[in-house]
Amino acid sequence: MATLLKIDSSPMGEHSISRKLTEQFATSWRKAHPGGEVVSRDLTTKNIPAVNGLWVGAAYTPEEARSPEQQKVLAVSDALMAELHLANEYVFGVPMHNFSIPSTLKLWIDQVVRVGKTFSYSADGPKGLLNGKKATLLIASGGVYENGTAMASLNFVTPYLRTVFGFIGVTDVTIIAAEGTAQLMSGKIDPQTFLAPSLEKAHSHASL
Ligand SMILES: Cc1cc2nc3c(=O)[nH]c(=O)nc-3n(C[C@H](O)[C@H](O)[C@H](O)COP(=O)(O)O)c2cc1C
Repeated sequence: MATLLKIDSSPMGEHSISRKLTEQFATSWRKAHPGGEVVSRDLTTKNIPAVNGLWVGAAYTPEEARSPEQQKVLAVSDALMAELHLANEYVFGVPMHNFSIPSTLKLWIDQVVRVGKTFSYSADGPKGLLNGKKATLLIASGGVYENGTAMASLNFVTPYLRTVFGFIGVTDVTIIAAEGTAQLMSGKIDPQTFLAPSLEKAHSHASL
């Protein structure tokens, strides 16, 4: 069965642009995949812990030799990775925060980038283990970071997420950006007019 994992990280609730895009994506994806399942995760309500020394020690201890304490500290990581392994496709709503990703999404990444599970070391260097997956990143930013402009070098969201997903084996990544959302705050543009092109791109891509 086709499964879409939908992950949101905007703290802005119903005012969030990236959430509107993931919602559109999920709606269009459901239509294109009758019988498919959408698993939704809201990282702003999940309280994902930061990795600590115990976590790192546990991750590098062979599974059969882990103590109950080590098993416990990896439980959140196990559950989040299971969702990644189960789904064929992922969609992420990502607000730009301070030129990068929200801290909640970083906590999630630290839990799912795990040796022996989503990447491994080989003679040719690190190898991603999540193969055959497809990810769509729906990114909202207040400013505009168009390629070829001076602003582009300040966008750490796109290169960072491409790198992290590539590291765990997800190389089929599509990025749809709704840039310049700050215009909405100033009332310079009507929200529907602003959102229409990104909603259409999300719809088209989810319908493939
Ligand atoms: C804490 C915080 C930091 C932000 N930092 C940036 C930034 O560095 N660059 C930018 O262009 N916009 C920045 N913004 C604006 C958001 O990217 C913008 O509001 C976007 O629409 C957020 O996505 P959302 O509507 O899904 O929450 C920031 C917003 C917040 C709340």
